Amino acid sequence: MISVAIDGPAGSGKSTVSKIVAQKLGFVHLDTGALYRAIAYFIDKSDVDFSSEIDVKKCLKEIDLKVEKGAKEQKILLNDKILTTELRSLNVTKIASKIASYKSVRDYLLELQRSFAKTQNVVMDGRDIGTVVLPDALVKIFITASPEVRAKRRFEQISGDGEKPDYEEILTSIKKRDYEDTHRKIAPLKRADDAILVDNSDMDLNQTVENVLDIIKERTEKI
Ligand code: DC
Repeated sequence: MISVAIDGPAGSGKSTVSKIVAQKLGFVHLDTGALYRAIAYFIDKSDVDFSSEIDVKKCLKEIDLKVEKGAKEQKILLNDKILTTELRSLNVTKIASKIASYKSVRDYLLELQRSFAKTQNVVMDGRDIGTVVLPDALVKIFITASPEVRAKRRFEQISGDGEKPDYEEILTSIKKRDYEDTHRKIAPLKRADDAILVDNSDMDLNQTVENVLDIIKERTEKI
């Protein structure tokens, strides 16, 4: 089985790139951030105190999380309910960022992610795929862009949805998330020593996809 691990900070476009790359290669894509978000969604709905790891750990027993193959992309099922846009709310984003620092949550998701890569060719994206989840992945890529470029992309995306966002506020929140992701004790966001860096600050989506496909091709041709 071939595994492609793609990591990077929020707003780098890694999930969109991973999805397109997987489609082009006929691989299965798993956006692991959606798994953290699914647990956050459950916590949000059940009024669990997410600042308490003990309470969060307890509630994991009530969660049955599955990933199923959909027609276009993977479906995340939480206690048999398919989750889509609910995972993108501000509250869920905030809770996900906090609970991703808990060992109990990371351990809970580790096996699910690893088992996904055992039986199929995958493109998996997240923060710790190349370093912790799939340290033996054949291809490891770290996609990033400057905080300013990522904030600008987010700003344009929200403006396109008809809202009036504040650029400085978005930039501050991106920098805060970067700090939290890179400074947590367990599985921090970090480029694996053998990951190839793709800085897409000056690339559009197509150029990033082509770049990633070239890297995968070069690596797989060697074996
Ligand atoms: O990529 P995202 O914004 O959907 O991720 C949601 C949260 O989960 C984010 O705070 C980082 C965290 N995360 C993580 O810690 N490890 C991963 N492999 C994927 C996401």
